[in-house]
Amino acid sequence: MGKLKVGILISGRGSNMAALVEAAQDPAFPAEVRCVLSNRPEAGGLDFARERGIPAVAVDHKAYAAKAEFEAAVTNTLLAHGVDFVCLAGFMRIVSPVFIERWHNRLINIHPSLLPSYKGLHTHERALADGVKLTGCTVHFVRAEMDVGPIVAQAAVPVMTSDTPDSLAARVLTAEHRLYPLAVRLIAEGKARVTSETVDIAPDAVDETARLFSAR
Ligand code: GAR
Repeated sequence: MGKLKVGILISGRGSNMAALVEAAQDPAFPAEVRCVLSNRPEAGGLDFARERGIPAVAVDHKAYAAKAEFEAAVTNTLLAHGVDFVCLAGFMRIVSPVFIERWHNRLINIHPSLLPSYKGLHTHERALADGVKLTGCTVHFVRAEMDVGPIVAQAAVPVMTSDTPDSLAARVLTAEHRLYPLAVRLIAEGKARVTSETVDIAPDAVDETARLFSAR
């Protein structure tokens, strides 16, 4: 079976993209990164990808009159690079139902909370305000509703009394960098499949996901 051909959409720093690129440098990793695309031309992550010889393309949403045109350009760019699976990694544009349907069950996202808690923005501020003792991150298939969709994998992260939004974000981000490559690998190996709008994890892969339950 060939490798999963992944395109990664970013808007900025791109540290999750970097984690995926680094994981994919292992010849045994079952996915390859075909291109990195940013809606913001100045995104730092584009340089990271270019330095590693990965096609890095800016598709500036501001250059398009309508969202549909922008998303068509994104899809065309992905297809031109042979992409068959898309990872959102800090891509800060809400994708339309048309785009989601075009990439149905071939489009995943990483979100910095344990969904379905704390959808949307400012997840860490809200978690701290609520006094939760455990937060984390989630990789999920994308559906039309924001931050909703079949969950592939989650990592739990403890909240410390001394945490600020920044310190908590940093701890969660470390877990994200472990979680996203794991989720992509499970999907690429056929060990994480959408069935009836949840993701079934193959029995031999359950231990690997469980290890991340207490990621730090
Ligand atoms: C990550 O924490 C990611 O989970 C979050 O943005 C950050 C991007 O960082 N995504 C969202 O909030 C999506 N709703 P990165 O550019 O360094 O990967």
